[in-house]
Amino acid sequence: MKKLAIFGSGTGSNAENICRYFSNSNCVKIAFICTNNKDAFIVSRAKKLEIPIVYTTKNSLNNFTKLRKKLNDYGVDYIILAGFLLKLPVKMVNSYPQKIINLHPSLLPKYGGRGMYGANVHHAVIKNKETESGITIHFVNELYDEGRVIFQKKLVVSVNETVKSLEKKIRLLELEYFPKIIEKILLR
Ligand code: GAR
Repeated sequence: MKKLAIFGSGTGSNAENICRYFSNSNCVKIAFICTNNKDAFIVSRAKKLEIPIVYTTKNSLNNFTKLRKKLNDYGVDYIILAGFLLKLPVKMVNSYPQKIINLHPSLLPKYGGRGMYGANVHHAVIKNKETESGITIHFVNELYDEGRVIFQKKLVVSVNETVKSLEKKIRLLELEYFPKIIEKILLR
C-alpha cells in the first residue's frame, strides 16, 4: 500500500479528485491533506471526504520538524502538490527524492517560477498571445517549477480566449490526467 499526503492552499478541486480516484483502491491510500490556509475551500472538502487535515505555516514548513514527524507517523511515501503555494524547504525536498509531485497549469519551463500560479499564469499566457498552453506534472526539486517533467498535455489557446475560459479548459485536463499519472508513478 502506497500512502499519499496531498498539499494544497486553495479550492482543492484536484485534491478532492485525487481522493475520489483512489477511494476504492487497494494499493493507494490518502494519509492526510495538508494546508497552510485554514480558510481555504480545500479544508471543507477534506472534512466532507473524512480525510485527516494537517495545518502548517510558512515557518513550520521551513523548520520541517513537526511536518517530518507527521509524514513519518502516517507512513507517507509520496507527497502530492495540488495548488500548494509555499516553496518547500530543501531538507524536505531532499528527504523525498523523486517522491514529491507537482501539478502546474502551464507548459513548463514557460510561465513557471515565483508568482506564477493559478490565474496569474493564464493572464500571462493570454497577454503574450500564446497559441497553446497546457499542464505539466513534474517531480519537485529545490528550484521552483524546475524538477524533471513527468507528463505534459497541450491545448489550443483560441483567439478570443479569456482567463476564465482558459482556466476551465486547464482544469478539465488536470482532473483527467493528474490522478492517472500519480497512479502510474506510484505503481511503477
Ligand atoms: C491548479 O490549477 C494547479 O495547477 C495550480 O493551482 C490550481 C489549484 O487548483 N498550481 C499552481 O499554480 C502551482 N504553481 P485546486 O486547488 O482547485 O486544485
